[in-house]
Amino acid sequence: MEIKKNNAENLKRWQHNRLGMFIHWGLYAMPARHEWVRSHEKMPESNYLKYFENFNPDLYNPGEWAKLAKSAGMKYVVLTTKHHDGFCLWDSKYTDWKSTKTPYGKDLLKPFVEAFRAEGIRVGLYHSLLDWHHPDYTTDRNHPMRDDEAFKAADAKRDMHKYAEYLHHQVAEILTNYGEVDCIFFDFSIKDADGKVLKGREAWNSEELAKLCRKLQPQILINDRLELDEYDWGWDYMTPEQCMLRKTPEKDGVKIPWETCQTFSGAWGYFRDEYTWKSVEQLIKMLVDTVSKGGNLLLNVGPTARGEFDPRAKECLAGMGGWMNKNERSIYGCIEAPEGFERPEDCRLTFNPETNKLYIHVFSWPPTGELYIEGSRVKEIKYAQLLNDGSELKFGARAAWQADKWRESEFGDMISLKLPVRQPGIVPVIELILQ
Ligand code: GLC
Repeated sequence: MEIKKNNAENLKRWQHNRLGMFIHWGLYAMPARHEWVRSHEKMPESNYLKYFENFNPDLYNPGEWAKLAKSAGMKYVVLTTKHHDGFCLWDSKYTDWKSTKTPYGKDLLKPFVEAFRAEGIRVGLYHSLLDWHHPDYTTDRNHPMRDDEAFKAADAKRDMHKYAEYLHHQVAEILTNYGEVDCIFFDFSIKDADGKVLKGREAWNSEELAKLCRKLQPQILINDRLELDEYDWGWDYMTPEQCMLRKTPEKDGVKIPWETCQTFSGAWGYFRDEYTWKSVEQLIKMLVDTVSKGGNLLLNVGPTARGEFDPRAKECLAGMGGWMNKNERSIYGCIEAPEGFERPEDCRLTFNPETNKLYIHVFSWPPTGELYIEGSRVKEIKYAQLLNDGSELKFGARAAWQADKWRESEFGDMISLKLPVRQPGIVPVIELILQ
C-alpha cells in the first residue's frame, strides 16, 4: 500500500513556527499526581470513577489559554483529545466515557479549537493509542490492572480488532468535526525492554489509521509513534521526548523534521506537589538549542481540575514571552547555521535563510567583553547588533577593536565582537547581517 503525501506546505509552516504549546488535560488533573496515576498506583477503574463523577472544570476558558500561549510566542497548540485513561474531551458518539457525561456536561474540544484559531494559533491534536478504559483493550505491561489475575484472565475474551475499530472511528470524529488539524500526535507503540514490539502497527492497524488521517485531512502531519518508521507516508516528524538531541537527526543521510516535547516540571498532567520546575533561562536555552539543530519545541502545560493554568506555568510562559518579544527573529523561520560559521564556545547558532541573518545565542557571557567567531564565511559579516535593543556591536579582526581599527584590518577566518561588560538579560542574542 502506497500513500501519497500532500502536506509540504503545512510542514513548511509548522517548521517555521518552531514553538508550540502541548496541553495535557483530563480526569487526572483531579488526583493531581501524574497523568499515569491509574497505572502507577495500579488503580482499578472503580477507584478512578470518583474523578469522572466529580469532573467539573468551572473556570475553563480556552480563550484565556490561547492568549497565554500567544503571548509566550507559541504559534501552534496540541491538545490531548484522549489520554491513556481513555477519557474523551469531546462528545464522541462511540463512548460514554467523555466530558459530556460528567457534571460539566459539555464538549471541551469545540470551544478550544475555536478560541485558539481566533488567536491565530494553529491546532494539532494528541490522541492516545493506549486505552485503559475500553473493554476490548488487552492488559499489557503499562496497564493499571497488569497484576490482577482475574482481570488478565478475561483478556482471552477481549478483541483488539474491535478496539482498533473504535480507535479509528474516534480519530475520524476528531478529524471531521473540528476543522483543519495541522498535526496529529499518536501516543504510543509499546515495546519491551529489548525493543520487541508488544503493541504496534498490528494492534492499532496503523497503516489504515495513517491512510484515514491523510484522506480526511490531506495537509495533516503525523508523528512517528504508529510504528510505521520504514514508510515515508507512515510519519512526518520525529518526537524525542524529555531529552535534548546532540545533533540534527538524519535518515539515510537526509535531515528529518523533528519536534521535542518537554515539560516544565517532569509530569505532563497537572501535578500539584511536583517542584522540579525548570527556570525561564533553562526553558529558553532548551528552545534555542532545539532550533539550532533544526527542531521544534512543544512545551507542555497541565491545566488544573478547575480548568486553569497554574501560577507556576503562567510565570514560565510570561518569562518566555518577555524573551520572545525581543528575540523572536532568531527563532521563527530559523534553521541550523550553514557551514562556514563555527559555533563559538558556550553559544548556539541559528540562521534565517530568507533574511540571510545569523544569530549567536550567548549561553555564558564572556567576562572579557570579547567574543570570537570563526569559519570560512565570517568575512561575510557586514553588521552586528544586539537583538534586545538593536545596539551596534563593533567587530573586527582579532582584538582589532582595541586599536580602533574597525573593519580596516584584514579579516582572517576569525573575527572578534566587542560586547558590553554587563550581560543584557538572559540568553542574549547577537544578530549578524551578512553580505
Ligand atoms: C509519554 C507518556 C505520556 C505523555 C507523552 C508525551 O509517552 O505516556 O504521558 O503524554 O509521553 O509525549
